[in-house]
Amino acid sequence: MELLIKNGTIITASESYVGDIAVDSGKIVCIGTGLSIEADRVVDAAGKLVLPGAIDAHTHLAMPFGGTVSADGYLSGTKAAACGGVTTVFDYPMQRKGKGILETVEARKALCDPEACVDYAFHCIITDLNEDTLLDEFEAAVEYGITSFKCFLVYKKEGMMVDDGTLVKVLLKAKEAGAITNIHAENPDLIDLNIETFKKEGKTSPWYHYLSRPEFVEAEADKRAVHWAKSVDAPLYIVHMADKEGLEAAIAAKLEGYDIYVETCPQYLEFTCDVYKREDGRNFVCSPPMKGQESKDALWAAVQNGTIDTVATDHCPFQSYEKDWGKDDFTKIPNGCAGVENLYPYMLSAANEGKITFNRAVELCSTNPAKIFGCAGKGSLTVGKDADIVIYDPTKDFTISVSNMHSDYDHTIWEGKTVHGYPVQTYLRGKLVYDNGEFVGEPGYGQYVKRIPKK
Ligand code: URP
Ligand code: ZN
Ligand code: ZN
Repeated sequence: MELLIKNGTIITASESYVGDIAVDSGKIVCIGTGLSIEADRVVDAAGKLVLPGAIDAHTHLAMPFGGTVSADGYLSGTKAAACGGVTTVFDYPMQRKGKGILETVEARKALCDPEACVDYAFHCIITDLNEDTLLDEFEAAVEYGITSFKCFLVYKKEGMMVDDGTLVKVLLKAKEAGAITNIHAENPDLIDLNIETFKKEGKTSPWYHYLSRPEFVEAEADKRAVHWAKSVDAPLYIVHMADKEGLEAAIAAKLEGYDIYVETCPQYLEFTCDVYKREDGRNFVCSPPMKGQESKDALWAAVQNGTIDTVATDHCPFQSYEKDWGKDDFTKIPNGCAGVENLYPYMLSAANEGKITFNRAVELCSTNPAKIFGCAGKGSLTVGKDADIVIYDPTKDFTISVSNMHSDYDHTIWEGKTVHGYPVQTYLRGKLVYDNGEFVGEPGYGQYVKRIPKK
């Protein structure tokens, strides 16, 4: 046997119990109590929690965006993931005009393969739906293990947006192939209108990033996407939900029985739009922006009552000098913030503080993303699954600082935040990749996760 983790409190989405986990050939082979099995490595996890590795269903690694490229590449981003208890990341290859889905995905896979320190999967962003070839590619992509696609309803000037007709085609094609469509919901025309007005008035501080994309700008697009998904009865996953009105529309559709899923991110649970009034407000510029207290409260309520399905990070950091491009003009700030290393500690700390249960934190950060996106070997501590395991010390406090993170960025919106409890070890398919503050894994050990369609 490769590994035996003894006496820990094993947490799944539905149960908590003290037990032992035996691992061989990278898989969980036995779970029980008082297991007396010889193993190469025996870990005493008494007093600790033993959790499935988190799945961050939303990261942008080495993403060309905002006139630059996001600061974490596949190496540093997945290293940071391992150190935060994330054992699988989803990245977003972007299909561009005239390009196919498979060639887009394969090009990113070639970059990721030698560098990945945790397992990885791809949602493919569709920006140009070529009628002749691309529509036929959905089946082939699903066969390749890409069971989710993404549409931006925003970023029009950047050439990334799709119109409603294209969205409906993607929804239908994805459904037919057994896949799901992700959307980023904001209304670009309203944003442009607001920006034009503010610029004329000389209003260029980061606060106007929020005011150009307030609650209703997101809500309109959320509701529109929900409307189209309902109309064609296709599965829909709304990424980085940040506003109450859109959230309520998605929950209502879900309660009517539609296949609609909602993701939010720690930044929307922690901060409000007030961050944009701060001196360093530009560092918090991401889209959608953080909203008002009412939205934050509604997101927490949905995290608590089970109507939000996943929490992921939208990890897309930029360096300070890049954020500074927008010192005097918020439209020049590259959009995005760091988070992959903070996801699990943040949600588990919320559990430690009694806001949610540990089981719910596991469900949101691991079990549900695995189920929704077809990662058959992931998401639970169950015999037969990959031994993606986090050992967590609920008594260890940790104050987040850029100096104790493992990414390539030079600042973090989480600076100074203390979380209660922290991962002490991360195992990826049975191999120790993070040990008490240190990355101990190996670039290239991370594998592509071929996903299973819902057919
Ligand atoms: O501001 C963000 N979120 N940047 C990354 C791209 C996106 O919209 O998800
Ligand atoms: Zn987005
Ligand atoms: Zn994103």
